[in-house]
Amino acid sequence: MKLNGEYDFNIKKKRPEEEYEKVSDYFKGKILTQYAHSKSMMRIQQKITKRALELLSLKNRNALILDAGCGPGFASIYLKEIGYKIVALDLISEFLSFYEIKDLNPINSDMCFPPFRPSTFDAIISISALQWIFRDDNNKLMISMLKSLFQAFFQILKPTSRVLMQFYPKNKEIMEKIGKIITNHTEFHGQFIIDNPNSQKKRKIFLLLNKKS
Ligand SMILES: C[S@@+](CC[C@H](N)C(=O)[O-])C[C@H]1O[C@@H](n2cnc3c(N)ncnc32)[C@H](O)[C@@H]1O
Repeated sequence: MKLNGEYDFNIKKKRPEEEYEKVSDYFKGKILTQYAHSKSMMRIQQKITKRALELLSLKNRNALILDAGCGPGFASIYLKEIGYKIVALDLISEFLSFYEIKDLNPINSDMCFPPFRPSTFDAIISISALQWIFRDDNNKLMISMLKSLFQAFFQILKPTSRVLMQFYPKNKEIMEKIGKIITNHTEFHGQFIIDNPNSQKKRKIFLLLNKKS
């Protein structure tokens, strides 16, 4: 897996995914409602989605995109507005009843085991979710979930299609482990892209994977 330039970082501040074992233990009650109603969060997530689209560089405006880990639908709604066909999926059913997301008939499922036929999607996008699936490179269950995730994504993508995941890894080691798992267990070719690598506040990390035909 390639990286764009030199990088090294180690986030000291504890993130929610380190304090809560399951994502549904964190996103519930008040926190879930606040997240779903937050206009500033919507703006941030949609800005990330625009950058994700730029990196995906899709040729066809009618592409069918899977939004994996859609939450209340910030990315899905934006993508739908600009003309893409969207399938939204999330583990937490309560998220799927907010805003216009419910009009998209979202799917309540684990993205590591997505319930779709092979060669269904033109692209997969996932914004700020992967750190919940993989954050500890010694955890065997997380390693096995990650393998399942990428193998399933490979299956459900059409030939010559791409995955773009933005996420918040704790450090460089986690990224390297993800890269190894992809290389050893799938036929994806990929790279990490880091925007603003030297700014802890503005740094954004993307994983771009190509399914070659
Ligand atoms: C920080 S939220 C981001 C939500 C949305 N993508 C956005 O940009 O606002 C992370 C989301 O990932 C979802 N998630 C985490 N692990 C998942 C899994 N294994 N399968 C499906 N969704 C998952 C959570 O339920 C949560 O909605």
